[in-house]
Amino acid sequence: MNRKRIGIVGGGQLGRMLTMAAHALGFSVVVLDPTPGSPAAQVADGQIVAGFKDAKAIRELATQSDFITFELEHVNHEVLKELMTEGKSVNPSPETLEIIKDKLRQKEFLRAAGIPTADFVSVHSEEEIREVTKSFGYPFVLKAREGGYDGRGNFCVTKEEEIKKGFQKLSKSPCYVEKWVPFTKELSVVVARGTTGEIVSYMPVETMHRNNICHVVIAPAPVGEAARKEAQRVASRVLQELKGVGVFGIEMFLVPKESRIPSGGEGYEILINEIAPRVHNSGHLTIEACLTSQFTQHIRAITGMPLESAEMNVPAAVMVNILGDRSGPAEPKGVEEAHKVPGVRVHLYGKQETKPERKMGHVTAIGETIEEARRRAEEARSKISI
Ligand SMILES: Nc1ncnc2c1ncn2[C@@H]1O[C@H](COP(=O)(O)OP(=O)(O)O)[C@@H](O)[C@H]1O
Ligand SMILES: [Mg+2]
Repeated sequence: MNRKRIGIVGGGQLGRMLTMAAHALGFSVVVLDPTPGSPAAQVADGQIVAGFKDAKAIRELATQSDFITFELEHVNHEVLKELMTEGKSVNPSPETLEIIKDKLRQKEFLRAAGIPTADFVSVHSEEEIREVTKSFGYPFVLKAREGGYDGRGNFCVTKEEEIKKGFQKLSKSPCYVEKWVPFTKELSVVVARGTTGEIVSYMPVETMHRNNICHVVIAPAPVGEAARKEAQRVASRVLQELKGVGVFGIEMFLVPKESRIPSGGEGYEILINEIAPRVHNSGHLTIEACLTSQFTQHIRAITGMPLESAEMNVPAAVMVNILGDRSGPAEPKGVEEAHKVPGVRVHLYGKQETKPERKMGHVTAIGETIEEARRRAEEARSKISI
């Protein structure tokens, strides 16, 4: 059988769910990941065991694939760029990746496009940070330009004495200072752009973080209709400006109008926090809650198929992440019990080792109301240990 093949750089849970969607659309999949038997490799048709920056291995992946994509931003974009000039299909494009993977460049791009973000300044020394605090005040966030995820590249500075510690923590990579945003909610919009430029936006969801890690996602976001529309409008604008193809996760802050940040809308302001050039944790519930999941949509986009409807097909859905709480071999228990709760689906990623705060799986529950979905998701989650 002559199936077309998709090559994915990265073999984690995002790659795993992309692979399952690709199979349903008739593609075969090969993943590149340094861990043998990675979550995606367990379901894919092949794995290249190599690091995300290994140029030779990425070239091998390209040789085996008709379409190339990635599930994380910390990849070797130079070689992806070369492959693209050699005529390979790489999406999102390495140019887009180059803008996004550097958080400062990403913010500069948004500022130049007139899309609101928190105020920010690039810094190179403790002295420069002290200078910025004169106008920004405390608290503020020191952010590494590259390589951070789940809050690992961030340091919240609440008083002057903490500047030294923060700068030392992040000093291995260049960083910048971001003004503190007094948000009332964090929202996220998953948005897709096809090869012909069409844009499809999912419903805005509320994301709740614990220790900087996404913990609970609520769909639709419990905010007014105007805020929802504005969130979708801003997310679509980002993709228009970025010219990205594929699925992107756009993280946002909802800020009340009374705050010092100038407001553009009715009673609130939406600021972009960050763009992820890939499928996103806030979109996992689209598998159960939408006509087309973010994973299916991404595969459609990168293979040149028309995009499909992102409408919700249930009134409400809630996702709760299953995070590790100890170190050692994973021992999943309670999944059958969890599935006895109505409207619940449990997704385990097949990771062999668990660690505190490691994303091991997630639970999605659908319901007639957000309250019902949340109750179901929390009840199911409480039955699972890993
Ligand atoms: N400027 C800010 N003001 C207030 N909270 C922030 C700010 N920047 C980040 N945060 C909080 O920290 C979390 C992680 O920050 P983010 O920049 O998205 O890092 P990561 O790339 O690790 O997800 C955000 O989801 C938000 O809760
Ligand atoms: Mg984030």
